[in-house]
Amino acid sequence: MLDVRAVVTGIGSCLPPDVVSNDDLSLVLDTTHDWIFSRTGIARRHVVRPGTSTGDLGTAAGAAALESAGRRGCDLVLLATTTPDQRCPATAPQIAARLGLAGVPAFDLAAVCSGFVYGLTVAASMIGAGTYDSVLLIGAETYSTIVDPADRGTAVLFGDGAAAVVLERGLPGTPGEVLHVELGSDGDHAGLISVPGGGSRAPHLDDDASRHFRMDGREVYVRAVAAMTRSARSVAEAVGWRPEEIDAFVGHQANARILRAVARRLGVAEERVVSQLAEVGNTAGASIPLALAWAASQGRLAKGDRVLLTAFGGGLTWGSAAMVWPGVHPVRAEGPSPG
Ligand code: UT7
Repeated sequence: MLDVRAVVTGIGSCLPPDVVSNDDLSLVLDTTHDWIFSRTGIARRHVVRPGTSTGDLGTAAGAAALESAGRRGCDLVLLATTTPDQRCPATAPQIAARLGLAGVPAFDLAAVCSGFVYGLTVAASMIGAGTYDSVLLIGAETYSTIVDPADRGTAVLFGDGAAAVVLERGLPGTPGEVLHVELGSDGDHAGLISVPGGGSRAPHLDDDASRHFRMDGREVYVRAVAAMTRSARSVAEAVGWRPEEIDAFVGHQANARILRAVARRLGVAEERVVSQLAEVGNTAGASIPLALAWAASQGRLAKGDRVLLTAFGGGLTWGSAAMVWPGVHPVRAEGPSPG
């Protein structure tokens, strides 16, 4: 049987045009630029205007990724998101239809900040199994629609955005190859990151406490460093990469201190750590593909580079992946057009 691998052949991104700086937030919250920047590395974030949805951002990013790959379509559309356009139905089929792909299978995947790495695993597995030849994997979020604007503990952290990759079947050794993936979860600690209302356990969204995102930041911090280190180390060892052979370390963009701490524990030099946090903040399921697209556009990723991805988020969930960077040109979509 032919040894088939999933290969990244295109990448695209879309950030909404409106930007909120730390100084802007300090006018409405008991916070300062210095606190936010020194604790997180975040200086500003992009946010959608009312009426612009996750699906709008995801459609624009998906179109950009298809353009980057030089393709008109694909066999499967996957959307990693925690902020879908509606509870029912999933957002991915609408994105597919807006991309002219009505008819192809499309579904949402909910793994919060680990969503992109979970999606990469699903896409690579389906291509490897021969189920589909090409997958459009989108990470898109609008956390500005779920954070409590009055909670300085979370409102300063998150931003909106979307990015996407195209994966196609290829032969082992092709630049862009996804070499290895590992995932994990621990639902015993689901309460550390949650939106309490709106689900079957508590369907009503009639007060702020039930409709808003909440997080125990300090507890999540400790668990994120431990799980990302363990998971990323395991993946690097599985593919036989020594720390000094890793060209780019792209961790979930939640906090620059977390990225530095994980890299230090792995033995990866600080200049190999990709951090877009200053510009976009934490964009949850969109953060890793956004960081990849940004790093590639800055010339920080070259064809053949060894890239180690790792993520941690609500669920709790985590996951890591090793891939070789392809010679793709990222396409940046200007801004979403509302659907
Ligand atoms: O994306 C999913 C994964 N998420 C993460 O990985 C996030 C992980 N957590 C973190 O990144 C950090 O825990 C935070 C950035 C959320 C918080 O940083 P911290 O250093 O852990 O601060 P803290 O929560 O322990 O708060 C320290 C102090 C508190 O005041 P007291 O109790 O010491 O008087 C907070 O009330 O800072 C206060 N504080 C703030 N002060 C100014 C919390 N938020 C703010 C704020 N501005 N925005």
